[in-house]
Amino acid sequence: MESNQYVQFFDGGIEPKLETLGGKGASLVIMTSAGMPVPPGFVVTTAAFDEFMAAAGIIQEIHDLLDGLDPEDVAQVEKVSAGIRADICSKPVPEGLRAQTLAAYEALMGRFDTPVPVAVRSSATAEDLPDASFAGQQDTYLWLEGAKAVTEHIRQCWASLFTSRAILYRLKNSIPNEGLSMAVVVQKMVNSKVSGVAMTLDPANGDRSKITIDSSYGVGEMVVSGQVTPDNILLDKVTLAVVSEHLGDKHAELVPDRSAHTLVEREVEEERRARRSLNDAELAAVAAMAKRAEKHYKCPQDIEWALDADLPDGENLLLLQSRPETVHSSKPAAPKAATGGWAAALGATGAGQAPAGGTQAGGTPAGGTSAGAGGFSLGSITASLLKASI
Ligand SMILES: Nc1ncnc2c1ncn2[C@@H]1O[C@H](COP(=O)(O)OP(=O)(O)OP(=O)(O)O)[C@@H](O)[C@H]1O
Ligand SMILES: [Mg+2]
Repeated sequence: MESNQYVQFFDGGIEPKLETLGGKGASLVIMTSAGMPVPPGFVVTTAAFDEFMAAAGIIQEIHDLLDGLDPEDVAQVEKVSAGIRADICSKPVPEGLRAQTLAAYEALMGRFDTPVPVAVRSSATAEDLPDASFAGQQDTYLWLEGAKAVTEHIRQCWASLFTSRAILYRLKNSIPNEGLSMAVVVQKMVNSKVSGVAMTLDPANGDRSKITIDSSYGVGEMVVSGQVTPDNILLDKVTLAVVSEHLGDKHAELVPDRSAHTLVEREVEEERRARRSLNDAELAAVAAMAKRAEKHYKCPQDIEWALDADLPDGENLLLLQSRPETVHSSKPAAPKAATGGWAAALGATGAGQAPAGGTQAGGTPAGGTSAGAGGFSLGSITASLLKASI
C-alpha cells in the first residue's frame, strides 16, 4: 500500500516532516531511512487528526472550555480534561479516513506470516523539540491485536492531547490550543526480553564523552515510567569500555500473555535480578546504536531500545525512539550525585513531576503510569526527568 496524506509508512520513501508526523513519527521515518533497525510501522498523520476533529465539530467548544481555565484549579482542569476526552472518543471517524487507516493496518499485517501485535503511540508535533520537550504527556498503548483495537486506540491517542497534564503544561507555558495537532504511530511490537533507554552523555554532569544505559527485563515501559529500578551502566563513548555500573533491583517485568492477548506484569526471579540484564556484547550493541543516532542527528540523543526474544542474538536489537537529549545537554555541569547510578544522579538535579500521560498495556493500565499517578518513588523521578517538560 502506498503512503497518502493520512497514513505514511516508515519505509514509504516520504520526506519526514515534524508537522505531519510529530516528533516520534518523524524520527522513526528518519531512522528507518538511515538504515537503523526500526520495527516496521506507519504514522497516522496530523491531517487525519485535523480531519477527524473538523468532522466531529467540537474544536470551538474545546477552545472555549480551555480558555476559561485557571492553572491553579487542578480539579477543574481534570474535570474539563475528562469531558473533552470522553467527547472525542464518542465521535465517529470519517469513513474515508477510517478506510485508509484500516488498509494501512492490513498492509502492515500483510508483511508477516500471521498477524502481529502492535503498539499505538502518540506522536505530538510539539514533542521532541530541543527547547520544548512535551515528552510523555500523551498516551501509548502496547500489544494491541486486531483492527478494532487499533482504530479505537488511535482515537484515544488523539484524545490524549487533552490529558490534564498536557492542558496544564500548555496553560503554564502560555502555549495556545489553536492549531494543536497530533500524529499517531502504529508499529509492530517488539517481544522485548530486555529493554530500556540510553543517553549519549552522562546525565550526572553533562559529560558528552560517556554513554549511559538503563536496562531492565521485559517491555521497556516499566523503565521509562520508573516502575522498576533498572541496571545503570556508564560507558566510554570512544572505547565502549564500562566505566561504572550499578545493578538495579529489576523486580518485575512486563511480558506478553499470549492467551490473554495482553501484557502482564510478572515478578523477576532472584537469579536474573542479581545479574546485569545485558551481556557484554548486547551492552556494546546498545551503546553503538546510541552513538549512531547521535552521529546522525549531530547532537546528544536519548534513545529507547529493545532486544527481541524472537530474533537471533546479534540481530535482535531494535530502535524504538530517538530524540534530542534536552535536560542535561542544555544545562551547565551539575554536581555529581553522592551515590552512584543514573537514577540517583537524576534525583540530585532536583525537579520532579508525576510521570507521563501514560503508557498502557493492551488498553489496561500497566500500573502507576496514568496521569497524575502519585507515588513518588525514585523511579518516578527518573522517569519525570527523562521526560522532563522544561
Ligand atoms: N513497538 C514497540 N515494541 C516494544 N515496546 C515498545 C514499542 N513501542 C513502545 N514500546 C515501549 O513503550 C515505551 C513507551 O512508549 P512511547 O515511547 O510511545 O511513550 P513514552 O516514552 O511514555 O512517551 P514519549 O516517548 O511520547 O515521551 C517505550 O520506551 C518502549 O519501551
Ligand atoms: Mg518514548
